[in-house]
Amino acid sequence: MEKTFLMVKPDGVQRNLIGEIVHRFEKKGFKLCAAKLMQISDELAKQHYAEHKERPFFGELVQFITSGPVFAMVYEGENVIKTAREMMGKTNPAEAAPGTIRGDYGITVGKNIIHGSDSPESAEREINLFFSESEILSYTKQD
Ligand code: CMP
Repeated sequence: MEKTFLMVKPDGVQRNLIGEIVHRFEKKGFKLCAAKLMQISDELAKQHYAEHKERPFFGELVQFITSGPVFAMVYEGENVIKTAREMMGKTNPAEAAPGTIRGDYGITVGKNIIHGSDSPESAEREINLFFSESEILSYTKQD
């Protein structure tokens, strides 16, 4: 079954949105396999955002994601990568539809509340960056 990596960014944690965000994915029916509140190191931030290292906003991105705790999660479910991205809304909250997480709560592209893997390859890479195998639980969930 497909898995994805989702993370409430420091702005989402500061604004008390962890519960609201977890609630949305729980209600949707996806299975939570792992979760932790953590402080991202400079090194982990640079690894996580490696594909953006040539972008002019890379320094700002690393500085922001390490500025306070994040809430990292792994969810499992059919089509969870694409569906979670749809539930998050467009990267720029100004363009994100109402009803999506960024559309409802975000304002700027830098502080856009939540990160979600954009492909099966990035999901695998990001899950392995943030979680050890023993932290990812396998259990049966009733539909
Ligand atoms: P995320 O999905 O975490 O992946 C890359 C992040 O880069 C993205 O969310 C945005 O928060 C951030 N980003 C994209 N464009 C800009 C920008 N112009 N300035 C600052 N941050 C940006």
